[in-house]
Amino acid sequence: MLEAPNSLFSIPIFFLFSAFSLTSGSTYNVLDYGAKSGGEIDSSKAFLDTWAAACTSTTSPLLYVPAGTFLLGSKTTFDGVDCKNSVTVQIDGTLVAPSDYTVVGNDGNWIVFEQTNGIVLTGGTFDGRGADLWSCKHAGNQCPVGATNLAFYDSNNIQISGVTSVNSQIFHVIIQECTNVNIKGLTISAPGDSPNTDGIHLAKSSNVNVTGSTIATGDDCISISSGIYNVWIEDIQCGPGHGISIGSLGAEPNEEGVQNVTVKHCTIQETLNGVRIKTWARPSTSYVKQVIFQNVTMVNAGNPIIIDQNYSPGSPDVGDSSGVEISGVTFQYIRGTSSTKAAISINCSPSKPCWGITLQDIDLTSGDQPAEVSCSNVYGSNVGTVVPAGCINKSIGK
Ligand SMILES: *[C@@H]1O[C@H](CO)[C@@H](O)[C@H](O)[C@H]1NC(C)=O
Ligand SMILES: *[C@@H]1O[C@H](CO)[C@@H](O)[C@H](O)[C@H]1NC(C)=O
Ligand SMILES: *[C@@H]1O[C@H](CO)[C@@H](O)[C@H](O)[C@H]1NC(C)=O
Ligand SMILES: *[C@@H]1O[C@H](CO)[C@@H](O)[C@H](O)[C@H]1NC(C)=O
Repeated sequence: MLEAPNSLFSIPIFFLFSAFSLTSGSTYNVLDYGAKSGGEIDSSKAFLDTWAAACTSTTSPLLYVPAGTFLLGSKTTFDGVDCKNSVTVQIDGTLVAPSDYTVVGNDGNWIVFEQTNGIVLTGGTFDGRGADLWSCKHAGNQCPVGATNLAFYDSNNIQISGVTSVNSQIFHVIIQECTNVNIKGLTISAPGDSPNTDGIHLAKSSNVNVTGSTIATGDDCISISSGIYNVWIEDIQCGPGHGISIGSLGAEPNEEGVQNVTVKHCTIQETLNGVRIKTWARPSTSYVKQVIFQNVTMVNAGNPIIIDQNYSPGSPDVGDSSGVEISGVTFQYIRGTSSTKAAISINCSPSKPCWGITLQDIDLTSGDQPAEVSCSNVYGSNVGTVVPAGCINKSIGK
């Protein structure tokens, strides 16, 4: 990735290796295209003009946002379809959404990158100013759904590092229809009671790494939905939030599945759930397979280990059974404390029982009361010491 440093002689070599690829290409500074710091004047057009200029460059363009607060006052989409080269976006400042949540609240997203190839995004704070929208939702009023802070669609070879997302109206970060994505060093923050503020939402994407990130929010820290292959999640601090979830899957009959997910060396603290797989109780051809949750520490987390195939919030799916087939899921070295009585709940579909489920070296406690387990329609094995004792039906295979 590293190119010959022409004019970078004054920058210590350390920085050349630590940043992704701040190369000797041309720099496009948003201030030169009319962006105004101070957070009052809408700079979205200036940012888009800067992007358009950077996209004409054939030599590793750097779009630079200096320190300062910049208002992006409407939904801002950086479309890479006409870019001649991969753009590096380095943000030292803070981007703020309009203070009136209705301005972007019905647009789905606030800042979007789409059809990019090889984009590098480093640094910056994205502030969605969601508080008033959450208040509206808490009051039970008619409110806009809200906008995601930062979304990547239909893009390949994405590197995101050192980005901070705060107070998103709904999801903080969405990765959808993307391949080869490397996310590291993210800081995500919103209150534990902010509705639907998932940290990172992955959909219809493959080869995604999320590492070394801290996520405190009001919904899933990381949510993995249908059409996801080859995901590696490591070193995540999650909480408050709803834990790390695969699902909800199977809401629609013909969804794609989820395959090859590793969640490793994470701490989940003061959350509603720990590591979770949830599916709707509806007919489906979807599946979840080849998943490992390894070396996860629970600190006062609710439902530390949970598979729930009867997920149907506010819906009358009573009596239906999930068609999503869950197999080859290992929970290994999961330790710590549960804030609920339940420590292990594996409740699978009567019509598609879970199989190949392994509980290995589990040690979960629930305050001074005995931690509880519940299993239904699940086949697999307990390996090593499983506390509380696992309830998996030890038949082999289906
Ligand atoms: C994910 O991380 C692994 C291990 O560090 C690395 O080999 C792989 O290239 C990374 N994938 C992406 C898409 O960055
Ligand atoms: C599973 O995904 C990882 C990346 O997270 C990849 O390195 C590995 O090759 C994949 N395994 C299979 C069998 O596809
Ligand atoms: C789990 O993480 C700890 C550090 O927190 C490390 O010392 C240990 O080797 C890890 N165990 C496994 C099995 O990865
Ligand atoms: C285990 O599976 C067998 C065969 O399907 C069934 O008869 C038995 O009730 C199951 N036991 C539990 C504890 O689920």
